[in-house]
Amino acid sequence: MEVLKNSEKFSVFKIREKNKNIILKIAHKDPKKILREVKLLKKLSSSSIFFKSKIPKIINFGLVKKGLSKNKGFYKQDFIKGLTFSQIIQTQKISKKNLGLLIKTLINQFLLITREKKLISKKKNSLNYIKKTIRFEFNKIKKRRLLLNLINSKIITIDGEEYKDIKFYLEGILNSRVLKKLINHHFLAEIGHWNFHGGNIIFPSNKKFGKFHLIDPDATWNFNDPFFSLSRFIYTYPHDTMEFDKYSIYSENFRPGNNKDEMNFKCKILWKKEILRKYNVAFNKFFAKDLKANPLFKNLNELEFLRYNLTIILCFIRGINSNYEQKINFLNKKSSIFQNKSIYLYLLTLKRLKSFKNFLDKKYE
Ligand SMILES: Nc1ncnc2c1ncn2[C@@H]1O[C@H](COP(=O)(O)OP(=O)(O)O)[C@@H](O)[C@H]1O
Ligand SMILES: [Mg+2]
Repeated sequence: MEVLKNSEKFSVFKIREKNKNIILKIAHKDPKKILREVKLLKKLSSSSIFFKSKIPKIINFGLVKKGLSKNKGFYKQDFIKGLTFSQIIQTQKISKKNLGLLIKTLINQFLLITREKKLISKKKNSLNYIKKTIRFEFNKIKKRRLLLNLINSKIITIDGEEYKDIKFYLEGILNSRVLKKLINHHFLAEIGHWNFHGGNIIFPSNKKFGKFHLIDPDATWNFNDPFFSLSRFIYTYPHDTMEFDKYSIYSENFRPGNNKDEMNFKCKILWKKEILRKYNVAFNKFFAKDLKANPLFKNLNELEFLRYNLTIILCFIRGINSNYEQKINFLNKKSSIFQNKSIYLYLLTLKRLKSFKNFLDKKYE
């Protein structure tokens, strides 16, 4: 037996059963959630040829009968031998050319399923629903004590550039006339994987990049835009940097005796050089300040590009909430360098929001 991942939410084991390696995933919280995940995995497999070929088979599921994990929810799944996308970035040698090819292949395949008309539901007004979902996540942020002063601060300087407050950008975007182009379009789905995060993509071969498997869907959505799954893939970079604590933030704001109202932050990424290079080769262009430099700008039509940008914002804002931590982890005695997952994501969110708002504003200049 081998522990593949262990968090507050789940333990994932590789075990042997009937002379075969299989996966055992146990949920430490409410069993309902993991059983929802099982239900979604099964639904996905029967929803399209794409997912049927990509989702590993569920062998068994239910509640653990005995031992320390008694009554916890679990499922067993076929084990896929290979590396996840995140493992390739973090542990493997891969040439710049091959990494570029891999990204291109993944995005093309993701776009196929994103554009699958069969999965689109007409039950909801899509634009209103997405706006509502973003506002709902934002309202949760507003209740976070640690973030209160950031939210109320009218000017924040990040890496030498000035930003206005989050509400200014968010409302500017959600009320933009450009988004009205999405009115009368249906683009929500009830069934989706919703989480093409790098840790959920497994490559059994290091040559055939198109032959990958998808695990671990996010079963918390009743409806979402299929672009959300793709956005979660792009979001892998900030997500991994935050999750593995590979960043630091410099600011004088928390120093005792500091009585300035203005907020000023400098972010630093701490990945080792080789890993950083790979993350940048893979994702830098997707986070370019000018959205027109994003490779998706050319790949998507106008409405799709708007949808993509709304869902990547949803990824970030949801990320601030689900990784919220009250504690600031100071890295030096002067308390000017620290880590805090939600503040880090908050600063990156401001950058994204400003870029998107600028893009929308320019359309009517
Ligand atoms: N079916 C599988 N085959 C091979 N490895 C798997 C499989 N399921 C999970 N893993 C490994 O375990 C890790 C965590 O599993 P995952 O279901 O993504 O948990 P979490 O919800 O915590 O992200 C994956 O990133 C992958 O390395
Ligand atoms: Mg996962």
